[in-house]
Amino acid sequence: MNYNPQSNNVGNIGDIIKHAALVELARLIQGRNPDTCINYLDTHAYLYKSPCTNNRWAGDVQLLAKKYKGYTPYYEIEQSFIQQGHYLCSSALAVKTLKDPRLFLAEKNDVTRATLANQLSEAGVKYTALKHDFKDFLNYTDTSTCGPIFGLIDPFKLNDHEWQGLWQVLSNTLNTIHNPQSDALFIVFNFSKTGTPAWQLPPNNLLNIVGVIKHAPYYLAVYATKNIAGPAQAVLNGLGWDVGEICNRQLI
Ligand SMILES: C[S@@+](CC[C@H](N)C(=O)[O-])C[C@H]1O[C@@H](n2cnc3c(N)ncnc32)[C@H](O)[C@@H]1O
Repeated sequence: MNYNPQSNNVGNIGDIIKHAALVELARLIQGRNPDTCINYLDTHAYLYKSPCTNNRWAGDVQLLAKKYKGYTPYYEIEQSFIQQGHYLCSSALAVKTLKDPRLFLAEKNDVTRATLANQLSEAGVKYTALKHDFKDFLNYTDTSTCGPIFGLIDPFKLNDHEWQGLWQVLSNTLNTIHNPQSDALFIVFNFSKTGTPAWQLPPNNLLNIVGVIKHAPYYLAVYATKNIAGPAQAVLNGLGWDVGEICNRQLI
């Protein structure tokens, strides 16, 4: 299993929308918890850095940045690496934006995971866990890492079976690495060629959908705890996300 389809899609518009939100929400959660180590959970991590396969990357981001100022911090972080031939992927953007985060990463492709481990080591980045499959976090029990949690859930596609697995993992991580009084934020990415996918609600009622965006075939949603829902919506609004009707379900 050497080939990873993500290698042909690095820096496309789906990545741009996802990674700009990642940078802005990371800044938000760290800003609200300035002296706290944030737990960063990347269930489908891919690499730390990779060649950019979108040669229109700069133009695509600048177009968005003209309309929405929120794209500028992402552009500024990524641009200097692009000039050196590297695109910073999600875990790298989290490392650059959060202050010494605890990294919980999973990557199923063996070659990709080995390369990711090498890249992290070369960059001097330590991680708390690097798992083979996101479902391995079902067995994670170390509650000493409890704190605010920021996550990216980024498979190529989410079918019903995968949603179920994800909610089980989220329930477990929310019970172990998340402190119930603190912020939790998750970005979820879905790819669909058959129209807007249904965004599902997590079973434990702790998280709510606070914003969605579509740029077919790329669809994203952000899930958040009540305490950070309003500030997250303000950030997403500044990136052109829809923070309207879908997001009005009351949290218990
Ligand atoms: C869309 S890419 C992730 C991109 C990355 N998060 C980013 O934003 O830069 C999806 C990755 O998930 C990996 N993957 C697929 N199934 C997985 C699973 N069950 N557990 C962990 N990783 C998985 C794939 O090998 C691929 O590298």
